[in-house]
Amino acid sequence: MKISIINGPNLNLVGTSEPEIYGNESLDVYIHQLIKKYDRVDFSHFQSNIEGELINEIQKQGNADAIIINAGAYTHTSIAIADALRAVKCKAIIEVHISNVYAREHYRRESHIAPACMGSICGFGLKSYELAVLSLLS
Ligand code: DQA
Repeated sequence: MKISIINGPNLNLVGTSEPEIYGNESLDVYIHQLIKKYDRVDFSHFQSNIEGELINEIQKQGNADAIIINAGAYTHTSIAIADALRAVKCKAIIEVHISNVYAREHYRRESHIAPACMGSICGFGLKSYELAVLSLLS
């Protein structure tokens, strides 16, 4: 199974930025551990702070069996990312958030990405990513 993990803006700072919300663990390190743990899965991992680069990656990974995407703040603003997710062949797309976006500011409760996804997982810290992987493998 080919799973593409795509992370959006500021997620490269997880582990040091706003630790009270996102924890102290580096997302990059966590993802590498996840990739090692599920070694039968053919993972790709991409992070960018640039909206267009995220769209290019979604289009590039469109033939993957599944996409796990945390679009960061673009979740709440980007119709272009939602359109890209709808445009690709891959239909097993899971939206992931580290924090519980529903327990935070009002503007984080709206996701343009969610309607283009099979489902969403949020609020379980970095474990949200593993839960997404497990849902795809079960
Ligand atoms: C986030 C939630 C977003 O609202 C925020 O802008 C992020 C991180 C999360 O993983 O909890 O960048 O996507």
